[in-house]
Amino acid sequence: MRRWHTTVALSGVLALALWGQETKVSEGRILYQRHCAVCHGANGRGDGPMSKFVYPSPTNLTKGVFKFRSTPTGTLPTDEDLKRVISEGIRSTPMFGIKGILTDSEIDALVAYIKTLSPAFQSGEKGEPIKVNPLPPSPELVSEGRKLYFELGCDSCHGKNGQGDGPAAKSLQDEKGRPIRVLSFSDARNFKAGSSPADIYRTIMTGLDGSPMPSFAEMLSEKEGWALAYFVHSLVQNRAEPKWFGSQISVAQLNKLPLKPEDDLWNSAPVVNLALQPTWDRVRSPDFLQVQAAINGQTLVIRLQWLDEKRDASTKGQSDAVFVQLPLDANKAVPSLFYGDPQSPVKILRWDAGKGLTVYSAKGFGTQSQISDTNVQAAGQWLKNRWVVVFSVKGLNLSSHLPVSFSVWNGSLGDIGEKRLMTGWHFFVTQNP
Ligand code: HEC
Ligand code: HEC
Repeated sequence: MRRWHTTVALSGVLALALWGQETKVSEGRILYQRHCAVCHGANGRGDGPMSKFVYPSPTNLTKGVFKFRSTPTGTLPTDEDLKRVISEGIRSTPMFGIKGILTDSEIDALVAYIKTLSPAFQSGEKGEPIKVNPLPPSPELVSEGRKLYFELGCDSCHGKNGQGDGPAAKSLQDEKGRPIRVLSFSDARNFKAGSSPADIYRTIMTGLDGSPMPSFAEMLSEKEGWALAYFVHSLVQNRAEPKWFGSQISVAQLNKLPLKPEDDLWNSAPVVNLALQPTWDRVRSPDFLQVQAAINGQTLVIRLQWLDEKRDASTKGQSDAVFVQLPLDANKAVPSLFYGDPQSPVKILRWDAGKGLTVYSAKGFGTQSQISDTNVQAAGQWLKNRWVVVFSVKGLNLSSHLPVSFSVWNGSLGDIGEKRLMTGWHFFVTQNP
């Protein structure tokens, strides 16, 4: 009797757990369709509508091959690894993080769903995270690391000085025959898997599966691994990282609003620098967008500034431009970063040096349609080496927390259409007067 009871109780628990897992997966599926499918494709094959433009190619998630793992080469990532990459995003790519935009439990749901896209998670080899026990840094370790760097041929791809210009680097290609860039170690933002010594150690020991970056775990002792990690870390010069996604932009409450690009009143609005990331294969320039915002009643003004050496103001071809993307309804879920979605549509205010202001609404990639909106105005000015553009939006009910994202086009660097620079979602936050 007793046994029978236990079995029933147990299968009840199991059923409940399975049911819980299924609801997680279906919650994850909805979030995936909203935030990820535009690049990774409806079925995870890496073939979403934006994938044609995006460099590097969005991962085919059905294959079960992952770069950013804590586990040995050839094994699957842990749930924590997937969670980290989805939460933090992948630096130097337009996959922005989603922490602070989705809740922790929503990100868990995405992880559960991602794992259903590939049969590898049923049959493939689970990996145990490798040990990461930092040795204290020392000049001796760094010089041992330098020696190993050349002995192991890191320089053949990464170059003598870690600039990404080794002789083998030029011919590296992905499966679509597109070039694989080896980025310079001099800039912290080039480290997709993180730029701390522990991150670098992990990358060297695990390798980035699916890329030419191999695992060196079989060849190195722990001490040699740390020596290399500290050496590579010593090459990082630029450690400044402008805000990448999810930051707060304080909106100043002012009695009189600055309406022109060069108005002294702008001095009373706080300045924030947001990282700009190209969607496609071109140099990251400019690095950041400078944003200020002020509000009076229901009128919001936004000033945007970015470096641009050449003014391109064509009415037909490639011209300099900028857009502000806002949700149509601030009370809905944060929209897809790529033109919203049916549940959370967006409004886009686009100022173009050639064509001036256009306002669009959209509820998904490729659904942008022009609307007439007399509440929006914009003016831009080119000051020899930079653009200053001001938007004003009337009749806005700015709740305390309004999602916003930006895009910039530099005509002479080849930006056009989806080839652009963009930010992740950030938030306008009103200051109390
Ligand atoms: C703008 C396009 C884009 C969007 C949107 C996007 N990704 Fe990605 N994703 C990429 C790119 C590009 C890579 C590959 C980077 C690389 O290989 O260096 C990638 C890689 C990944 C990987 C594999 C990481 C690894 O270890 O190899 C996972 C998992 C992933 N994305 C999940 C997601 C999830 C979940 C979402 C939605 C919340 C999402 N991505 C949204 C572009 C995107
Ligand atoms: C066959 C060429 C090749 C060799 C040899 C090689 N790498 Fe790499 N490495 C790459 C490529 C390609 C990438 C970028 C992969 C990507 O972005 O998907 C990379 C990326 C990296 C990264 C940056 C990871 C990140 O977070 O973006 C580090 C650190 C690194 N390699 C260290 C080393 C060290 C140390 C050695 C020698 C022990 C080495 N590599 C040998 C090709 C190579």
